[in-house]
Amino acid sequence: MEHDQPTSQSIDQAKALIIAPALSRMIIDSTSPGRKSFLDIGTGDASFVQFLISQLEKEGIRISDITLVDIDTAVLPAQILRVAASKATVRLLQFPPERHFGEGTSSSENSIDIANMQMVAHQIANDAELSLIFGRLFLALRSEGVFFLTGLDPKYIEYLYQSQSPKFTYSNTLPSGTLVGTYHLDETETRPLYCRPLANLLAMLIGLGFDIKEISHPSLAPLAQIKPRYGALQAAGIPMFQIIKVAKGNRFISFSEGIVARTTPESSGYMFVEFMDGDSVIVPDIFVAPKERLVLLEVTLPDKRTCLTQWAIPETGAAETRSRVFISKK
Ligand SMILES: C[S@@+](CC[C@H](N)C(=O)[O-])C[C@H]1O[C@@H](n2cnc3c(N)ncnc32)[C@H](O)[C@@H]1O
Repeated sequence: MEHDQPTSQSIDQAKALIIAPALSRMIIDSTSPGRKSFLDIGTGDASFVQFLISQLEKEGIRISDITLVDIDTAVLPAQILRVAASKATVRLLQFPPERHFGEGTSSSENSIDIANMQMVAHQIANDAELSLIFGRLFLALRSEGVFFLTGLDPKYIEYLYQSQSPKFTYSNTLPSGTLVGTYHLDETETRPLYCRPLANLLAMLIGLGFDIKEISHPSLAPLAQIKPRYGALQAAGIPMFQIIKVAKGNRFISFSEGIVARTTPESSGYMFVEFMDGDSVIVPDIFVAPKERLVLLEVTLPDKRTCLTQWAIPETGAAETRSRVFISKK
């Protein structure tokens, strides 16, 4: 697996000069001073998260409990953990692709004040995998907890594509509207990129119980003098990053999770599902097989309909996580 090592790429300058001040300001504005628990998904080398936490501490927000999650089991350097551990309780969750973020955090349900996920969603090809992360985040947050989702703005990717910039090679557009391509970090390093329309991300978050609080586009002004591309974007009013702030709404109805032992058809398309631990649920339709993990999250939508998301997680990472959403009639 390729690791995201610290680099002197312009994206790192952009993170330090553009994202960090905007994100820390948004966090400070939405959090009262005092001891807080912090969850970061896709931490990478942890340098950004460390910087962010030090900014928050300067403003009186003391992070007393940190959970760092990354799918890459080799990415977090031990010395960063030691530094972080000197200030707070640090939990590290790393997992190979066939395991999924969540099992290790069940103890932190309803316990996180601030959750962060930065420059990660565009690395995740599968919508079901991304929505499962959001669903787990929703459960992990305390009521009134806030989640910040930072990524490249779709308008920026569109701009790179239209201007035939060597930064981005277009591959295709999925039926969902997600733009697929390759992002060129520099002459030699590339990453696959899945850029979802903002409306898709917001619909996913609302359907999992989050309330949308703010969508912010940090100004590129601090970088405009450094690189002509940033200057051109700034002049054209095209944002490079978007920061979406959501809060845990009070729309939660139910959550169940288990390894499926047996499924039996019920009337009118419903299925009776028995879990290995003896619990059972009745769900509309079924797309899960014995031995797979079934995860169910039901919430009320802002218009009072109910929204049930079902995820089926295969036993091994060879097959993909699948999901379906069922929305009740009014
Ligand atoms: C571009 S780096 C961003 C690191 C850091 N958040 C930052 O902004 O500096 C993306 C990180 O997300 C991790 N990642 C990708 N898919 C993930 C997933 N499904 N769950 C958790 N981490 C994931 C990668 O291993 C990588 O370390």
